[in-house]
Order: sequence, then structure tokens, then C-alpha cells
Amino acid sequence: MTVENAELLERLNEKEQSLEGLLKKTLAAQEEERRRLARELHDETSQILAAIMMNIDVVDRQLQSRKPYRARLKAVKALAEEAARNLNKVLLDLRPALLDELGLVEALRWYVSQMQEVWGLPVTIQAKKMPRLPEHVEMAAFRIAQEAVANAVRHGAPRSIRMKVAAPDGTVRVEVEDDGSGFDVAGAMAKARTGEAVGLLGMIERAELLGGRLEVQSQPGKGTRISAEIPIGGG
Ligand SMILES: Nc1ncnc2c1ncn2[C@@H]1O[C@H](COP(=O)(O)OP(=O)(O)OP(=O)(O)O)[C@@H](O)[C@H]1O
Ligand SMILES: [Mg+2]
Repeated sequence: MTVENAELLERLNEKEQSLEGLLKKTLAAQEEERRRLARELHDETSQILAAIMMNIDVVDRQLQSRKPYRARLKAVKALAEEAARNLNKVLLDLRPALLDELGLVEALRWYVSQMQEVWGLPVTIQAKKMPRLPEHVEMAAFRIAQEAVANAVRHGAPRSIRMKVAAPDGTVRVEVEDDGSGFDVAGAMAKARTGEAVGLLGMIERAELLGGRLEVQSQPGKGTRISAEIPIGGG
């Protein structure tokens, strides 16, 4: 009996490990794909849009005296500007180039400043200086913070969103708190397990894959707090 149990347990462990391996690979492939897409969009689409806008300015100067054309041109330029703004938003979500260059804290500061300045969102950040962390730890922490802010903005209509980042005692901690609508966590988790939504579960999986954990605290009418803790040497 016990021998059989031990065998079953071992098989279960093996299965769990291969699932975990698969998940890691999927996340890595996803990041790689985002990196590629971001590079392509930046190198090509952004440049083309910039060229369109420059050309519009040139034609505009040449058309000084022809009013109707100028009005039309202005409309075209507004469209191109709108496209450029949208593209920047996509790039911001896809691949935070600053994460590779400057590390977690600076990348998050930059992300938050973009959200504030460009999108007028009420996000603030309180971050403690920290050394560079392993790439996958920085990426997981960044993506968790990003999804938490995205959820707050999309679902919570909060007056403020506060992000805190620090790296005490060999772990990195990310906390995102909003004073928005809040939600029923058990209900959302049940929905998530059917595959309808991937955000919350994805955040939890990212943290757990690296030996960390993530807590979702929320109640309708009481805002939301996401706190993640990831060991720096993990994964
Ligand atoms: N900060 C928040 N404030 C209010 N509701 C939230 C918040 N975060 C999550 N929710 C609720 O929990 C649900 C599940 O969130 P989750 O991130 O898993 O999925 P989603 O955002 O709907 O879709 P996606 O897969 O694109 O992330 C949301 O649909 C929303 O109802
Ligand atoms: Mg989400």
C-alpha cells in the first residue's frame, strides 16, 4: 500500500515538474515574441509614422495659400499622431526596453511616469534602490506590477493606484494597491480557472514558478491589493 502510494506520489511529482517546465518555456517564448514584435514595431512602424508626419509638415508649408488642403492635411496629421500614440502604448506594454538597460526600479519608475504623463492615470510609485536582479526575476516582477496596474485601470476606476517596490532580505517585493471598486476574489479565481481570464492566474503563476507567492486581497467596494514576494535566487 505505502509502496504504491509512494510510486503514485512520485509520478504526480514528475507530472507537476514537467508541467512547470512547460509553463516556464511558454512564458519565455512569450517574452521572446514580445521582444521581437516590439523591435519590429519600433524599427519600422514608428519610423514610418514619423516620416508621414514630417512629410505632412513639408507639404503644409508648401500649401500656405491653399486653405482647404491645409485643413485636410491637418486632419491627416492628427490621425498619424493618434496612431503614433497608440503604437507607443502597445510598445510600452510589449517590451519595456528600459528593463534590460536600467533594471526593475528605473523601468517601473519610467512605466509609472508614462502612465501619469501620457495617459493621465493616477499612479504613483515608491521604490527602494536595489542592485540588478536576475533577468527572469526582474521580468516577473515587472509583469506582475504591470498587470496589477492594468487591472486596476481597466476594472476598478480608482482615484489612486500606489505601487511599492523593494528588495529586502533576498526577496523582491511588489505591491500594487488601488482604491477602486474591488471585486469578489473567489468568484474571479473560479472564472480564471475556466480559462476566461489570464491576468490574475498569470501573476500568481509567475510568482510561484520562481518559488515566490502572490496574494490578492480585494472586496467589492474596498479596493484591491496585490502583493508579490519573489526570492531573488529562485527559479
Ligand atoms: N484591481 C481590480 N479592481 C477591480 N476588479 C478587478 C481588479 N483586478 C481584477 N479584477 C476583476 O477580476 C477579474 C479577473 O482579472 P484578470 O486579470 O484575471 O482578468 P481580466 O483583466 O478580465 O482579463 P485579462 O486576461 O486580459 O487580464 C476581472 O475581470 C475583474 O472583474
Ligand atoms: Mg487582467
